[in-house]
Amino acid sequence: MKKLDRGFSLTWLGHNTFKLTTRNGRVVLLDPWVEGNPSCPREGKTFDRIDVMTISHGHGDHMADAVTLGKKFQPTVVCNYEIHLYLQRKGLGGTSPMNKGGSQEAAGLRFTMTHAIHSSGIEDGGQVIYGGEPCGFVLTLEDGTRIYHAGDTGVFSDMALIGELYAPDVALLPIGDLFTMSPREAAVAARMLKPKFIVPSHYGTFPALTGTPEMLVEEMKKLGVKSEVLALKPGEALT
Ligand code: NI
Ligand code: MN
Repeated sequence: MKKLDRGFSLTWLGHNTFKLTTRNGRVVLLDPWVEGNPSCPREGKTFDRIDVMTISHGHGDHMADAVTLGKKFQPTVVCNYEIHLYLQRKGLGGTSPMNKGGSQEAAGLRFTMTHAIHSSGIEDGGQVIYGGEPCGFVLTLEDGTRIYHAGDTGVFSDMALIGELYAPDVALLPIGDLFTMSPREAAVAARMLKPKFIVPSHYGTFPALTGTPEMLVEEMKKLGVKSEVLALKPGEALT
């Protein structure tokens, strides 16, 4: 457990999946992938409630459990328009679509959709369905704390705008390489975003995702980036 004393608890469920419990007890599940997620500890796969679910893009390692958990807990599902249409077809009622640059409130929290460089096809029955554009989210909590979930992305220079507009306190950044940034790109991302804290994600799930938090710290040192890297173990929480 790593302490920030901001009244919220953010648990890394492995890969790019996070569970946020806010000071008012709202539960937000970021990128619902727990069942088939080899990094997700057993106790992380069950929930008492889910008030909001965010989906960064259409890949299975980010939304494979969206339909099951969405039907069970009836959360507001914050996602792009195309994933909203897909989830509606699968029988989910609570989707609340949006697009990049926009914000919306759900469960008393503010969700801003940001850009991400990646792809977003949805694999379904041997077909790839168009899943709109991949994205990230900035979550603004009850006390104004801002958490940036980058989703899956390469580094892009408009991250400087995300830093300027939203000044995230905590940035959840992928570092695994191959499908996302490696630690080298993530260090440049951190230089633009200037978060107080970085929680690395999307590494270690499979042998091919080779980036490590130690490599990120090393790369940030080379660039003189001051953010603090808080490496969680799967199942561990930042509170
Ligand atoms: Ni992906
Ligand atoms: Mn992914």
